[in-house]
Amino acid sequence: MDNTYPLRPIWENPHGKYSGRELEYVSQALDSEDIENKKNPWTKRFEQKFARLIGAEYAIAVNSGTSGLHAALIAAGVNPGDEVISPGITVIMDAVATIHVGATPVFADVNPHTQTIDPGDVQKKITSKTKAIITVSLQGLPVDIDPIMALASKYNITVIEDSAQTLLGKYKGKIAGSLGHIGVFSFENKKHLTTGGEGGMIVTNHRKLAEVARKFAGIGYKNLTPEASRMGLLPSEFQDPDYERFDSIGLNYRMTEMSAAIGMAQLERVHEIISRRQAIAKLFDEAIADCEWLVPQQTPKDYEHAYYTYAVEYSGHETIGLSWKDFYHKYKEMGGDGFYGACKVPYLEPVFHNLEINGHRFSKGLCPVAENLQPRLMQFKTNYRDMDVAAHKVKILKQLIKKFKS
Ligand SMILES: Cc1ncc(COP(=O)(O)O)c(C=O)c1O
Repeated sequence: MDNTYPLRPIWENPHGKYSGRELEYVSQALDSEDIENKKNPWTKRFEQKFARLIGAEYAIAVNSGTSGLHAALIAAGVNPGDEVISPGITVIMDAVATIHVGATPVFADVNPHTQTIDPGDVQKKITSKTKAIITVSLQGLPVDIDPIMALASKYNITVIEDSAQTLLGKYKGKIAGSLGHIGVFSFENKKHLTTGGEGGMIVTNHRKLAEVARKFAGIGYKNLTPEASRMGLLPSEFQDPDYERFDSIGLNYRMTEMSAAIGMAQLERVHEIISRRQAIAKLFDEAIADCEWLVPQQTPKDYEHAYYTYAVEYSGHETIGLSWKDFYHKYKEMGGDGFYGACKVPYLEPVFHNLEINGHRFSKGLCPVAENLQPRLMQFKTNYRDMDVAAHKVKILKQLIKKFKS
């Protein structure tokens, strides 16, 4: 069997995801004979550069957004039996990480216009057991964090900003991600910035939170610090059979040097990458401006949307008699790209059907706005790397809308 693969040099495609210095940095990181490389410099460089970008004091690189959420919950001191509030529209990972620390996920409803967590409903869901709130900056839109921080301070709750879908989004002029107590980013393949398919970053301005998150994500090694992902010890110290390594329980959530090297190259183009997504969203804005059955996620004044996707609420099944799925197929038939529906409301996924956590069960009706909105959402791609292709796909959408206007 021929097990060779046809190779195409990545520099031959100017629109490639990794068309910057990714390859160059990865090959440097792979140089096993480089003395510098033995100190894991790429992770450190990536953490420092990312922290500066976001405006956070500490950044801890991890191997996914999900592991970052897990470490953040541990850092927040969430214990079995505690409650953690997260929104009704998000991926399941916020609830899954909550369950992994033994806590109960409590779902707060969303604002129907911004689609993000509703501070009013958060307030209603707070109990004496609430230990953390996970806010989710959905599709690239930061959440209304000020009222949530006010509640957190009143009730002594830690706010974890899930910024997996939002990079360089702004809330009242400030970059989202470190506006809560601790924030988590994802560098999974489709995100604004990727570290080669999987990856994540925890950010915080609080040293204690950074220290716990670092140690948890680093197997619990006692010498880890918010700044250092590896121990800077002499071999004579750690080769000693009497050397004691661990003073806490952790997991191995560390980022690899190769991922960090890719991340460093991606960071060099981060503003360009985000501006492109924003420019594509603008094209969608223009295309659907006069269409009353496609209503975009609302960006409040003083916010900057980073457009992980361009999300619209579809009501064509009521107004033009075309179901969500028929619209999807028609768009594709005309040459448009497949777009995603929103993830199911987490507690309506089959895994929750027979689940009982700390005496709580989960059923329809917990978040009526989210339940109504989720099946109507269409999330159009904004990650075209060629603006001409993006313009062409948007034009097709415009033509499809026009068909139902006349
Ligand atoms: C809002 C949100 N939170 C968390 C995650 C989990 O990130 P990862 O896939 O890197 O584990 C994702 C990933 O899609 C996400 O969109």
